[in-house]
Amino acid sequence: GSTLGAAAAAKGKYFGTALSNGHLGEAQYAQTADREFNMATPENEMKWDATEPNRGQFTYGGGDAILNHAQSHGMRTRGHTLVWHSQLPGWVNNIGTGSELTQVMDNHIRNLMTHYKGKIYAWDVVNEAFQDGSSGARRSSPFQNKIGNSFIEHAFQTARSADPAAKLCYNDYNIDGVNAKSNAVYNMVKDFKSRNIPIDCVGFQGHFNSQSPVPSDFQQNLQRFVDLGVSVQITELDIAGSGQAQADNYTKVTRACLAISRCDGITVWGVTDKYSWRSGDTPLLFDGNYQKKQAYNSVLAAL
Ligand code: XIL
Repeated sequence: GSTLGAAAAAKGKYFGTALSNGHLGEAQYAQTADREFNMATPENEMKWDATEPNRGQFTYGGGDAILNHAQSHGMRTRGHTLVWHSQLPGWVNNIGTGSELTQVMDNHIRNLMTHYKGKIYAWDVVNEAFQDGSSGARRSSPFQNKIGNSFIEHAFQTARSADPAAKLCYNDYNIDGVNAKSNAVYNMVKDFKSRNIPIDCVGFQGHFNSQSPVPSDFQQNLQRFVDLGVSVQITELDIAGSGQAQADNYTKVTRACLAISRCDGITVWGVTDKYSWRSGDTPLLFDGNYQKKQAYNSVLAAL
């Protein structure tokens, strides 16, 4: 293929990007995104602070704009994200009891998934619920602290009933290789499968830099999750660096996904380096002038 999306589609996969509503009016941004990608993730527009800034008041303008743009340019959409400790409006932090917070969480999930019912390829139902480091413990959050461990399975069950057509993913970072954190997620997925808790996919964010490089056991780690009966997706790929080294790392990630039939696809976390959340790392496939980088050429060649 001559574009990332077309080349991935020829292999039965998608190639996506995060999109920001604020940049869609920039012609080169939209043209590059529309030409290259066939999956979109709203970078911020479907998060809790954007969609339910006040309790029970839902605002869908930003999310709708991304979804409409994606649909009218042949891109499917990943929903990101329903339950996350970050970008959470203050009022959620102030809910007093677990039972009330469970109602609030369910109401949030049901509202978003009903609003977008039938239009979302996959939802990141729960994002980043585990700690870094060797403990494998859950991360502190209002949901974890007030509802307890069961908040994740509860969220997935509510999500399944709200939109049975959407794939339901657990999404996290630093789970790309075999380590204590990925082991904890692995054990959760295994447990969910054994108890028929609905889960369809695990999202591997894939934020890489010199402190957290693409692990040598990346493919092996993806495969062990697939062996549990879920699909895997690279959901927020960006790799710090430049030139051949960066290109080689992008090639590794692309090859790992291609080697695994149940790796559904790859999403990069932005179109151009200039708008990356880590723009100092120049971690994306297009430079600030929308020129294809070496990393772009390597990914396309690997697809
Ligand atoms: C980031 C966005 O890129 C930024 O624009 C925002 O300020 C903060 O969030 N993990 C995730 C993403 O799941 O939602 C985060 O996105 C990056 C880390």
